[in-house]
Amino acid sequence: MKMIYLDNAATSFPKPPAMMEEMNAFQREIGANPGRSGHGRSIDAGRVLYEAREALAALFNIDDPLSVVLTKNSTEALNIVLLGALAPGDHVVTTSMEHNSVMRPLRYLASRGVCLSVIGCSPQGELDPADLQKALRKNTKVVVMTHASNVTGTIQPVAEVGRIVREREGVMFCVDAAQTAGALPIDVEQMNIDLLAVTGHKSLYGPQGTGALFIRKGLEKKIAPLMMGGTGSRSEFEIQPDFLPDKYESGTPNALGFAGLCAGLKFIAGHSIAAVREKEKQITAAFLKRLYDGCPEATVYGPADADRQTAVVSFTVRGVTPSDAALHFEEKYGILCRPGLHCAPSAHRTLGTFPQGTVRFSFGFFNAPGDAAMAADAVRDLLKG
Ligand code: ALA
Repeated sequence: MKMIYLDNAATSFPKPPAMMEEMNAFQREIGANPGRSGHGRSIDAGRVLYEAREALAALFNIDDPLSVVLTKNSTEALNIVLLGALAPGDHVVTTSMEHNSVMRPLRYLASRGVCLSVIGCSPQGELDPADLQKALRKNTKVVVMTHASNVTGTIQPVAEVGRIVREREGVMFCVDAAQTAGALPIDVEQMNIDLLAVTGHKSLYGPQGTGALFIRKGLEKKIAPLMMGGTGSRSEFEIQPDFLPDKYESGTPNALGFAGLCAGLKFIAGHSIAAVREKEKQITAAFLKRLYDGCPEATVYGPADADRQTAVVSFTVRGVTPSDAALHFEEKYGILCRPGLHCAPSAHRTLGTFPQGTVRFSFGFFNAPGDAAMAADAVRDLLKG
């Protein structure tokens, strides 16, 4: 049976062959510790990290590659910001559509005296920026929100929120772009984003274990590091460097992974984000239409409009639990997807799908146009079965 991979929101698959080739070449021909030793191979490994920073900076219109901190995923990037910037008495604002990568650090901080406002989104998962504006207070320090929901793909009005936050002195705007980096255009200047958390293994087509955090210059003074230790710089001092990116990059980095991410970033730049978006939009629209036309028993959550969401579609089928449906899709059709709560219980409460969750089909660049029809037919046939 042919496999149809519809779990790209969890991690993209397959990867461009160049990603594997670059990682293989790195390990065979470089393989040294970046920034530590001063010999040729160590310098080459450092160059790979710098290339990753440069490519990420170019993709998001970041003026200085050294403002890009390399992390192991977007969760680490978000934890650096939230745990490093917020102290008891500070106020933080977020939305009800967040992943636990935002919610869990925030709930922990709330238990330690940080004031938390969670702005409710519509049943389609959409934030009204006016609601967020009303929630801002004198002691608000951070506004943190996802660019697009990992459950429904709902694209949030990040640029509008960025404009609102920019007018408030002292408030930092942090965007979780785990679902959108590489899939939608992101410009940190136009969108007034101060802090951008991305992962490498989804729409940037890099390997797992890679991610990044953009920190607008100057804000490093307000954000304590999550970890401290060796950075390969200022080795004569026993205190942590206070400059970007070293302040947040202790310990030997995943240079092998970032070699792979460089290849993923080249792949995206080569195709252009506009072309990737168009391809993913078409397949999402085709799936939604076929689901509406052929499967009256299916309920779709979120905008159900390919222009207003990423290539992620969440649905339920009357009378079938999401986990039973996913098992059936895999066993009978070779479709791999993710059922349940998707590490986003608050988002599911907003949609009214807590605690059972939904079935999530998420398309990617490598899906064939025919996969949309086959996926919709599998949903239709589930009812027949
Ligand atoms: N956050 C990833 C997902 O939505 C893992 O599946």
